[in-house]
Amino acid sequence: METTASYNDKVVRQFTIMTVIWGIVGMLVGVLLAAQLIWPQLNFDVPFLTYSRLRPLHTNAVIFAFGGSALFATSYYVVQRTCHVRLMFDKLAAFTFWGWQAIIVLAAITLPLGITQSKEYAELEWPIDLLIAVVWVAYAVVFFSTIGRRRIKHIYVANWFYGAFIITVAVLHIFNNLAIPVTLTKSYVIYTGVVDAMMQWWYGHNAVGFFLTAGFLGMMYYFVPKQAGRPVYSYRLSVVHFWSLIAIYMWAGPHHLHYTSLADWAQTLGMVFSVILLAPSWGGMINGIMTLSGAWHKLRSDPVLKFMIVALSFYGMSTFEGPMMSIKTVNALSHYTDWTIGHVHSGALGWVAMMTIGSVYSLLPRLYNRDGMYSIKLIDVHFWTSTIGVVLYAVSMWVAGITQGLMWRAVNDDGTLTYSFVESLKATYPYYGLRLVGGLLFLAGMFIMAYNVWKTVSETKPAPVAVLDPA
Ligand code: HEM
Ligand code: HEM
Repeated sequence: METTASYNDKVVRQFTIMTVIWGIVGMLVGVLLAAQLIWPQLNFDVPFLTYSRLRPLHTNAVIFAFGGSALFATSYYVVQRTCHVRLMFDKLAAFTFWGWQAIIVLAAITLPLGITQSKEYAELEWPIDLLIAVVWVAYAVVFFSTIGRRRIKHIYVANWFYGAFIITVAVLHIFNNLAIPVTLTKSYVIYTGVVDAMMQWWYGHNAVGFFLTAGFLGMMYYFVPKQAGRPVYSYRLSVVHFWSLIAIYMWAGPHHLHYTSLADWAQTLGMVFSVILLAPSWGGMINGIMTLSGAWHKLRSDPVLKFMIVALSFYGMSTFEGPMMSIKTVNALSHYTDWTIGHVHSGALGWVAMMTIGSVYSLLPRLYNRDGMYSIKLIDVHFWTSTIGVVLYAVSMWVAGITQGLMWRAVNDDGTLTYSFVESLKATYPYYGLRLVGGLLFLAGMFIMAYNVWKTVSETKPAPVAVLDPA
């Protein structure tokens, strides 16, 4: 059995700390965007602060900087613990850390300058794309060689999810970004017209499926059992969950292109696969929640577990809502409205961020060899601020979205529109206010977390290390 000292925890610590920092940065930009939608003058007439430039900065920061750092940190941690072997290639692992941070900084410079490929979630221009590909291949080499050197024959299910996430993101990134460079900051993607749209949403949807879902399921399958002190409810179900999820996700992308010039059969195919996707998603959600069987009482005293259970509940909700929204007639109402934004954030804040936060609280004391976090009370305060925050965010956007959709489609007896667009916008304002409050609460929770992390690392004493009897 390996000792803790022989694991490479340096790179895990680095990514863990950056998860908290990038979480704050990305969400701060999100709060500014939410405020700009109420008071557009908050761009101060500065081009770098215009909504259209800050929006991709937000999405890149929260998904790739915050979510990405969390995935690197936990996958490196989990693969070592479950394979009982040190992470392979220290220098290459360090390269993935510094390379990933460099990519984030380059994104934070180029996006406000308006340098973009104009593909959602794939805005970064070709030199940065190349760097991403190199770092990602290095990540794959480190991760899979560690699996190859494992001392345990069985590959624990969390690693399957992390592995699928790493391989799929490489394929998605490379094919969606194939482009002809014109200058250092400008390129044209090789796809045109509807093929471009199809490639983009094959990428976009699987970015959700593999970056924001499969990777975080890997996190869930390690940290929920660990925190609950219980084995996974059904290991067999986790294997079925894995294979069915990865087999079905790939086909669902066209639900982003309903009623477009994409061939009708492809839209229907996307819809059907999206509806089927409910089954494996809920299988996984139930497996996670039922892992607490026999340990439900821990929810009373352990706020970290509360984060994880609420995350799983939001995973269940957003993977119920998504299949519903992919049904064409429902999508006719939801598309273009804030309902989509509500769906996105119930997944992104409710599932991705809450699971990350829970896992970091579970991981950090172990990483720094502490008995626990500096303050359990503060974790509980964080739990309530973020739960209330995400509920306010999601509910306000659901109501706003359905209001918009219904107002846009309302017609008078003579066939003219009942409401002008501006009237629907005015009806939305109160909900934008509520969303801002929700966002501010969620962000406040992240500051509380940063304080707790800082205090844990700087003030608490390392736990005594068990030593053999000196006599
Ligand atoms: C304090 C927390 C957050 C706030 C206040 C916030 C706010 C916003 C706002 C105002 C928008 C633009 C909506 C629009 O254009 O109508 C947005 C978009 C988006 N946010 Fe956030 N956000 C937060 C956290 C997050 C997190 C943690 C994630 C991901 C892990 C995330 C992912 C996204 C995505 C993917 C979009 C684009 C949605 C789309 O195009 O449909 N956000 N956010
Ligand atoms: C079974 C699972 C899911 C299905 C079938 C699904 C389906 C959908 C549908 C139909 C849309 C609206 C497309 C449109 O009208 O333009 C959508 C948007 C979106 N969903 Fe999901 N969803 C699922 C789970 C999730 C989860 C768990 C997350 C986040 C962690 C998520 C993130 C997003 C994002 C970011 C968008 C906005 C994309 C954009 O237009 O920029 N989804 N999803």
